[in-house]
Amino acid sequence: MQYAKNFSLKEYNTFGINVTAKKFISVTSITQLKNVLKENRDVFVIGGGSNMLLTQNIDQTVVHLDIKGVIVNHETENTVEVTSMAGENWHEFVVWCIDQNYGGLENLSLIPGNVGTCPIQNIGAYGFEVKDTLLFVEAIDTTTLEIKKFTNQECNFGYRDSIFKQTLKGKYIILNVTFKLTTKEHNINISYGAIQEEIGNNHTPNLKEISNAIINIRNRKLPDPKKIGNSGSFFKNPVIERAHFHQLQAQYPTIPSYPVSDTQIKVPAGWLIEQAGFKGKSFGNAGVHDKQALVLVNYGNATGKEIYTIATTIQQKIKDLFNIYLEIEVNVF
Ligand code: EPU
Repeated sequence: MQYAKNFSLKEYNTFGINVTAKKFISVTSITQLKNVLKENRDVFVIGGGSNMLLTQNIDQTVVHLDIKGVIVNHETENTVEVTSMAGENWHEFVVWCIDQNYGGLENLSLIPGNVGTCPIQNIGAYGFEVKDTLLFVEAIDTTTLEIKKFTNQECNFGYRDSIFKQTLKGKYIILNVTFKLTTKEHNINISYGAIQEEIGNNHTPNLKEISNAIINIRNRKLPDPKKIGNSGSFFKNPVIERAHFHQLQAQYPTIPSYPVSDTQIKVPAGWLIEQAGFKGKSFGNAGVHDKQALVLVNYGNATGKEIYTIATTIQQKIKDLFNIYLEIEVNVF
């Protein structure tokens, strides 16, 4: 168990923001975590630090969840149940599954962060969300220290959303996640245009080829957090009423859209931000990524407050231009 005071969190958040934790503890087992929770009632949990913007020093005890391990539980004719501990790196876990020929997570290759945080915002990309293969989650109640199992349904998943972001926010720490994956006939999903283009139409790709295609697409569009601090999509794609969409379409005939229901339409925030002229713009130490306007970046020494100011400037402009409220997807502290 690693313990430190006034500890810099720069290496522990993918935005690379240099704030400090008054007290920092890294735990590698559930027993260690329980001991820390017994002594520190108010904790701030950090996993891969890939979906947070830190705008101030953290006064609580920061607990870095570094509990590792992957277990194969149960295999049937065509499926396997695999449990990963929360502290495993998400992409390394995905690659491990592909190497075993376990299908179901390949479209989620190269997403930053750890396994333990994937259910919180129901990570998703290229036609897949984590909820599509997740069986259950085990989490510890930070007050009673009881361990509770949440089935897929109990997680209440939505678009970049779950019960852990809503009513149970801050009440539980996710310890491990169990997935149901395929072993023989894989339900591959390459419907997303860019994947088709990357792979070509002449054969049915295997899991590794799909993963590699996605890695290539992501590398072209999204900045590598090891090189340029970022937190992936900063905003959610907004959902608007059909009538509102038709008004916008009359003015901007090329506006992309995805129907959500008979009355609602999702529009890409990246497109709106690009139209508003922010794509590739820098504001001092931070800015808007030049290849994907939905991603805010730290060029090296930005503070969380600087990045937050850019975010609110974008929100205001999008409201003025399109009458759309852009909801921040990243957790701001
Ligand atoms: N677009 C622009 N300009 C931009 C960016 C996008 O015009 O600067 C347009 C594109 O041309 C396209 C549309 O917006 O028509 C959608 O773009 P893209 O396919 O890049 O996807 P996205 O909606 O911007 C979402 C997820 C990403 C995920 C991709 C691929 C959200 C908030 N983001 O982005 O997730 O990788 O789809 O499935 O839903 C993340 O959450 O960190 C993340 C990267």
